[in-house]
Amino acid sequence: MEETKDLRDLVDRERLPSHIAIIMDGNGRWAQQRGEQRVFGHQNGVESVRQTAEAAAELGVRYLTLYAFSTENWNRPKEEVNALMHLLVITINNEIKTLNDNNIRLRAMGNLHCLDKKVKEELNEALDKTSHNSRMELILALSYSGRWEIVEAAKAIARQVKEGTLSEEKITEKLFSSYMNLPALPDPELLIRTSGEYRTSNFLMWQTAYTELYFTPKLWPDFRKEDLYEAIINYQQRERRFGKTSEQIINCKG
Ligand code: FPP
Repeated sequence: MEETKDLRDLVDRERLPSHIAIIMDGNGRWAQQRGEQRVFGHQNGVESVRQTAEAAAELGVRYLTLYAFSTENWNRPKEEVNALMHLLVITINNEIKTLNDNNIRLRAMGNLHCLDKKVKEELNEALDKTSHNSRMELILALSYSGRWEIVEAAKAIARQVKEGTLSEEKITEKLFSSYMNLPALPDPELLIRTSGEYRTSNFLMWQTAYTELYFTPKLWPDFRKEDLYEAIINYQQRERRFGKTSEQIINCKG
């Protein structure tokens, strides 16, 4: 407990990432290490979601995006997909009060039409009931993949060009960004992936062009508040150059 407080105190509140994205990985391995079914890992991963969201909100992080279900996850065995959907319904429903008590707005991104009817209903209710909250936005990426999002943006732009409502010269990076799922969100400054895998697995491909990546061997169900503090402290020790030289960063602050 004391150790957690000490680590939290090492986080520089003036230089917090405003948007943190997380690839929550390792639930299956965590369960298998205990001789349990994979779904046991997902169930225990919910406590990590709770702790991480609480820690981020307490610090003052404005946006936390979690990769909860990828487009590729539909290819998992049917029982696991069903169990995950069931877990999402229960969790979303159970957490509405806590989200409201903590002034946290729930949002979602991804191909939400593909979700089961019950998940969609619970999700829409939670999105609606938390829409007035303003302390932090907790974004769930569901049935999401970065390539899917980029292709959808390209299709929408192509449609408008074909209809004559958009001209080719107007297509810039800024315009392209405005066709992403949640265009008002700033790009994440920090992306965390658990479980010791060094990949970004089709998550926020457009938005993470300049994002700092942080990998930890911890499996997601073991991830706690102090792990988030550690990731942020590590991020704060880095120099973000955006293509400039070190000297330019030192000489031309801002
Ligand atoms: C990856 O672990 C995790 C997932 C595919 C699902 C994450 C879901 C949760 C933590 C539960 C609910 C979340 C919310 C936001 C309500 P994996 O199964 O790929 O693990 P492995 O790599 O060890 O097999």
